[in-house]
Amino acid sequence: MSKVDVLLGLQWGDEGKGKIVDVLTPDYDVIARFQGGPNAGHTLEFNGIKHVLHIIPSGIFHKEKKNVIGNGVLVDPYIFAKEIEHLKNRDVDATQNLYISKKAHLILPSHRMLDAANEHAKGSAKIGSTLKGIGPAYTDKIARSGLRVGDILEFDFKEKYDLQKFQHIQLARTLNFDIENFRIEDMTLDEYETKWFESLETLKEFNLINSEYFLNDCLNKGMKVLAEGAQGSMLDIDFGSYPFVTSSNTVTAGVCSGLGIAPSKIGRVMGITKAYCTRVGAGPFPTELFDNDGEELRQRGNEFGSTTGRPRRCGWIDIPALKYACMLDGVTDLFVTKIDVLNSFNEVKVCRGYMIDGKLTDQIPFEFNSVEIVPQYEKYKGWKCDLSGTPSYDKLPDSLQLYLKELENLIGVPVKAISISPDRKDVLFK
Ligand code: GDP
Ligand code: IMO
Ligand code: MG
Repeated sequence: MSKVDVLLGLQWGDEGKGKIVDVLTPDYDVIARFQGGPNAGHTLEFNGIKHVLHIIPSGIFHKEKKNVIGNGVLVDPYIFAKEIEHLKNRDVDATQNLYISKKAHLILPSHRMLDAANEHAKGSAKIGSTLKGIGPAYTDKIARSGLRVGDILEFDFKEKYDLQKFQHIQLARTLNFDIENFRIEDMTLDEYETKWFESLETLKEFNLINSEYFLNDCLNKGMKVLAEGAQGSMLDIDFGSYPFVTSSNTVTAGVCSGLGIAPSKIGRVMGITKAYCTRVGAGPFPTELFDNDGEELRQRGNEFGSTTGRPRRCGWIDIPALKYACMLDGVTDLFVTKIDVLNSFNEVKVCRGYMIDGKLTDQIPFEFNSVEIVPQYEKYKGWKCDLSGTPSYDKLPDSLQLYLKELENLIGVPVKAISISPDRKDVLFK
């Protein structure tokens, strides 16, 4: 019997997970998403074309591989149908190799409205949600009032839908939300709802399954399964910088509940980190830069959100946060992406600890959001050269190899591979 390998982000999302999944897919038979939903934006680049996936697993461009949207994922049928359309335009027919859990919960149009209403009510304390309805849809799941993908096949689906919508509208009214003027992609709630219902027909064309049986069956047959995380460990609902987090367990534990995989069946855990750090949305970010270095990272790294287009906040790599994530996730292999973004820097900084109230620590404090954290940096000599065309890991410049060795030592996990451009071909395995 084989095990499920896991690939997830160790920071605040956008570490380059989509790209690395795409690169690793040839080694696997099945790629499965276990949490999150259309708040994710996973970018893949090959043959000069860029693709951004939100709900569909990043193995989809490999026709012979199976892709699974697990029970822990949230599905917005409208966004799903748009993704399917995009794939069709690229000659990818996902109907044969994409499987969707009947237990995955649906994001209703009124969940998106509630997301906006909640953020509006929070005012300056807003989380900076992607406004895809994630928080309200997971809230309904936990409150045991959510609707699931399998429900769309039931005769009383519309009745259940109307009840949910009614409750959401009541709630938005109590928050004094301006429902009349609310728009989703320039559509009123009613217009969006019409499209949403049309999209259910697309969803029905797919294999709607009990994915926990499907995946365990694959393992029993010795097939190789890769679980693809969304967001990052520092956005985890339990361990992230609460309340500035997403509403799911983004850590390895989420694979068990989000796919129906027993803990004993988890194999290798691949953690993805950028060679620096970014965050989009509100919340603490100890190593954030507000100077020219921060701007240089943003421009060279093209740090603008794949889902919302928002400029990402940028800063130096944060070892205490990475060690925390690796501890929670049980990371066995480290992948360092976007190293090329640091090519122009004379020196590269690494935050090795936090000074809090005059005391040095390498732990994430409970008061992460409120205490003043002074990052303690170590400087490393930059490599100052173009890395494109580097044939192998051992041909990397000495100063970069030293930097990577240092990261391994500080984090305590070996580097498995690095990425030096957005393209599929630019990953160097050690
Ligand atoms: P994900 O959410 O973790 O899949 O990451 P995103 O796709 O949101 O953001 C990563 C961005 O960095 C995308 O635009 C990728 O094309 C790009 N990218 C990935 N790896 C590299 C790399 O090694 N170098 C550069 N310059 N860009 C990269
Ligand atoms: P990928 O998978 C980066 C952030 C939002 C916000 C917070 C809550 O592409 O790495 P939500 O919409 O989930 O209620 O937003 O989480 N966030 C992400 N940041 N990458 C993501 O996904 C994210 N998904 C959510 O910006 O701060
Ligand atoms: Mg992303």
